[in-house]
Amino acid sequence: QTIFRKDYLPPSYLVDTVELGFDLDPARTIVANRVTLRHNPLSKSRDIVLHGEELELVQLRMNGKPLQAGQYELNGNTLTIRKAPLAVVLEIETLTAPAKNTTLSGLYVSNGNFFTQCEAEGFRRITYFPDRPDVMAKYTVMLRADKALYPVLLSNGNLVEQGELDDGRHYAKWEDPFKKPSYLFALVAARLVCQEERYTLQSGREVLLQVWVEEGNLDKTDYAMQSLKNSIRWDEERFGLELDLDRFMIVAVGDFNMGAMENKGLNIFNTKFVLANPRVATDVDYAGIEAVVGHEYFHNWTGNRVTCRDWFQLSLKEGLTVFRDQEFSADMIGTDSGRAVTRIDQVRTLRQAQFPEDAGPMAHPVRPDSFVEINNFYTVTIYEKGAEVVRMYQTLVGRDGFRKGMDLYFARHDGQAVECDDFRAAMADANGRDLSQFERWYSQAGTPVVRAETRYDAAAKTFDITLRQHCAASADQQQLPFHIPVAVGLLGADGRDLPLKTDAQDRQGHATVVLELRREEQTFRFHDIAERPTPSILRDFSAPVVLEYDYSDAELLHLFSHDSDPVNRWEAGQRLAMARLLKLTAAVAAGAPLTLDDTFIAAQRALLVDDSLDPAFRELALILPSETIIAERMAVVEPQAIHTARQFMRRTLAAALKPELLAQYHANQTPGAYSPDALSAGKRALKNLALAYLLIAPREAELALARRQFAEAGNMTDRAAALVALIHSGSDAGAHLHSFYQDFEQEALVVDKWFAMQAAAPGTDVAAVRQLMEHPAFTLKNPNRARSLIFNFTNGNPSQFHAADGSAYEFWAEHVIKLDALNPQVAARLARSMDRWRRYTPALQAHMQRALERVAAHARLSNDVLEVVSKALAGA
Ligand code: ARG
Ligand code: ZN
Repeated sequence: QTIFRKDYLPPSYLVDTVELGFDLDPARTIVANRVTLRHNPLSKSRDIVLHGEELELVQLRMNGKPLQAGQYELNGNTLTIRKAPLAVVLEIETLTAPAKNTTLSGLYVSNGNFFTQCEAEGFRRITYFPDRPDVMAKYTVMLRADKALYPVLLSNGNLVEQGELDDGRHYAKWEDPFKKPSYLFALVAARLVCQEERYTLQSGREVLLQVWVEEGNLDKTDYAMQSLKNSIRWDEERFGLELDLDRFMIVAVGDFNMGAMENKGLNIFNTKFVLANPRVATDVDYAGIEAVVGHEYFHNWTGNRVTCRDWFQLSLKEGLTVFRDQEFSADMIGTDSGRAVTRIDQVRTLRQAQFPEDAGPMAHPVRPDSFVEINNFYTVTIYEKGAEVVRMYQTLVGRDGFRKGMDLYFARHDGQAVECDDFRAAMADANGRDLSQFERWYSQAGTPVVRAETRYDAAAKTFDITLRQHCAASADQQQLPFHIPVAVGLLGADGRDLPLKTDAQDRQGHATVVLELRREEQTFRFHDIAERPTPSILRDFSAPVVLEYDYSDAELLHLFSHDSDPVNRWEAGQRLAMARLLKLTAAVAAGAPLTLDDTFIAAQRALLVDDSLDPAFRELALILPSETIIAERMAVVEPQAIHTARQFMRRTLAAALKPELLAQYHANQTPGAYSPDALSAGKRALKNLALAYLLIAPREAELALARRQFAEAGNMTDRAAALVALIHSGSDAGAHLHSFYQDFEQEALVVDKWFAMQAAAPGTDVAAVRQLMEHPAFTLKNPNRARSLIFNFTNGNPSQFHAADGSAYEFWAEHVIKLDALNPQVAARLARSMDRWRRYTPALQAHMQRALERVAAHARLSNDVLEVVSKALAGA
């Protein structure tokens, strides 16, 4: 049941208004839906097609008259009324059982409260409806529920009426003044409290902001509120976009499949991205909250005011909104080096997750051509690669040009459901640019490889860079050349940027120029280059590609100590490390002796102690490429060899740099009250990296350092880092784990951390994971909890997951199946852990194939899991 983009047809009927009435009851909720439809002149069909899933139809009336069984067709999940009148009022009454809904899609109960999640296709689990994003309507919602159990009744838009009913029930009526697609509908009926604030927009208009949480969490809402206000201000300043409602609500829920949801005026969040105070949340958590609060808020324009025509266009809103939240987070730090740190993080995510996806069985273009289950396409490709594609517009047309493109996009499409092509057209038209070739970034899957070669002519003082691109053709696609912005700088022997003059660019001297690679191969010439330079290619990671260039170690060391572009400075260090890690891995596999050269150690030392650099940057530059990223570089993956090689490098560096690590540990303390600002967070990151290194082969002094930090830490960042270091040190961390649990057992998000850090520890094998599953706090029903233990093992502990006997794959299969019965979306995510199975040794492959086949053979698999495992088994 594959759905194809090319089969798109406009809806046969449009919806003007929707009036929903809810009688909320966990076991049996009655939904009354009065919807006015009119025929869409763009459609030849006169059939009304409504979607519905897991609903009990009680009554159906058309234009006031009940429809009898023969007057409509109920086929699987569609209800069709043939040859309908041009204007129709449908009254639909259905029953649903929210308490039994473990999928967390549609209307469900979490910790006794009601919540909804409708994107992508959850609204059809609430009522019969044309549940597709190109049907936009005005909603009025009446909520009725027991007042004592559900004192708070929320929906989209404005509260227009509330009052008491009989039997201890009450009601609230909400009206959303904006048309919206059904996936943006939301309701909350709950026992919650809020932090609220009146906030004045730049226009002078006052709005009400609320963050709703369970009572015990009211001490953890400040940062989300602050992030919301920052987001509102930032969108006004950077894009001239104002909040269009009088009221904006964020609600936290503990059971949630994804990060958060941008429902109009009523954003619903995973607690993980709302709740924070220094005691329970780490710097990474704080950064996540800022980014996700921003992300959902920014969706109000990029997603809600302008939405997607169909789900193939998902990246239209997600890629753009991720780009916007990335820029927001960078602007919040404000410094160039801070921006660079956020950029490096983005590059790491791409390499860790998106490049593998793009090379695996679930590879898809940023705008897919087909899918089986749309929920499987909320991917790093749609989100993060999509954001890279949006970023490339900005690189090509400049920041001001990008703003012009955005302005034109809204001028043209406000209130519409549009396609990725419409965004590209706005960028092109606003800037007078031909961006037709750029379309291939949307239509072609895979990571392009750009191979660079250079030639210096001392007599002519020219420096040529030849760029060749290629992208592996996928089964169903021949690849044509992409339009790739390649930002380049040239370093002189003194480490400074040479002023650049090229044929294509103006004759001004710039430190960085953006070369536009459009053909398969192109040569770019730089003039007046007085000495042989060291090229810094793909500065700021100007395109989501793999750059190949035969750098010498000397050139990389030069870049690593001098490149003015921090991203490429970091990148040079990664290249130095990767070359060695690959050699070490081969040596481990061959049983050869392992060594690490002094040059590399010296470069790491110089960087570690360079106080002119941001601690956050130094920390990133010292993190070695992950085992997953190393694996992607190998023809045949041997996870144990990779692990051993990487551990050897870490141990060697730790031993060689011990005095410097200790000095940095002490120099980067952050005494006083906790603040999540980037500078303090960077210091903690560097300090805790030093601590982790110091505990690789610890003596009593280092153990004492970690124990002391664990005991005395004034914040979760330091406490958790000390605990992880202790766990990884191999010394018995049992007592510390125990006391940590005792201290935080009431804090679900911290208990998640407790499971996660054990799951990812190199000493945790599958038997230990099974043991942890017996812990009373473990449950498969809560996605955060399931992920904390299971996903952190399968994805975060490669050397144990890929144990030679295949026992962890059996564990994987068992839990994909178990989870699928509860929550297909979460199960399908877990199923993805096996994506790259064909790249492992034959012995591991055989085990993995058996595990995949075991899942595939299971009766009653969801579409979600079926799509993932059958693509894994089919893909070459
Ligand atoms: N639109 C949401 C976001 O990016 C994601 C919701 C996706 N949910 C799902 N079940 N597929 O912020
Ligand atoms: Zn989003």
